[in-house]
Amino acid sequence: MNLVLLGPPGAGKGTLAARLVEEFGFKHLSTGDILREEVAQGSELGKLAKGYMERGELVPDEVILGMVRERVDGEKEGFLFDGFPRTIAQAEGLERILPVNLVIYLDLPEEEVVRRLSARRVCKKCGANYNLLTQPPKVPGVCDRCGGELYQRPDDREEVIRNRFRVYLERSAPLIGYYERKGILVRVDASLSPEEVFARVAEVLRR
Ligand code: AP5
Repeated sequence: MNLVLLGPPGAGKGTLAARLVEEFGFKHLSTGDILREEVAQGSELGKLAKGYMERGELVPDEVILGMVRERVDGEKEGFLFDGFPRTIAQAEGLERILPVNLVIYLDLPEEEVVRRLSARRVCKKCGANYNLLTQPPKVPGVCDRCGGELYQRPDDREEVIRNRFRVYLERSAPLIGYYERKGILVRVDASLSPEEVFARVAEVLRR
């Protein structure tokens, strides 16, 4: 099966994806992670994406669809899409690549999004996620897993977070109705703990 994680910035898509990959062995495809790697490498794609990401705007659909098509590379199942699709055009494009069987919509209000993302820290080396409020590292600024340095994403400043949320409402929230009408959307309350969110989604997947 192919699974999509949909939800506002900071809803916990990456955190849940890591657990689902561990437990169910999905192939994880996060368009945000791919774009950040391209930016770090200074590739042509990275140079194009950087400005959009720093402002909290969406990278153009054709660029994203090309990137996804290349990574899916003709395979038809076992994918977990995280942060993709983000527009109706991307969802229609994805359907031409492979079928989507289930969409988990992680629902979280704006104030909680801002609170969570302002406190997020990420490991520069292994990409592990921390949260100064709910999941702090044992030693401040240092990754528990690999000892790497923790940093704050440039798009996790409050004004950019609020713009990302606005963009989400305008461009991505219409996907909720789109997938609901197809009968494949399951809503999960993302304000629960990471363990509870995972348990609810795991139950849906085992049905
Ligand atoms: P992307 O990287 O996809 O960012 P996002 O969707 O805004 O999502 P985040 O990574 O910020 O949050 P998340 O939901 O994964 O939450 P996380 O698990 O980290 O995209 C970045 C940019 O790239 C976009 O703005 C755009 O420019 C571009 N882009 C990417 N994809 C694109 C596309 N398809 N089309 C066009 N442009 C695209 O958790 C957040 C924090 O909360 C962490 O600190 C975590 O520890 C904590 N946390 C997680 N779960 C819980 C919980 N249940 N309870 C308490 N705390 C929790």
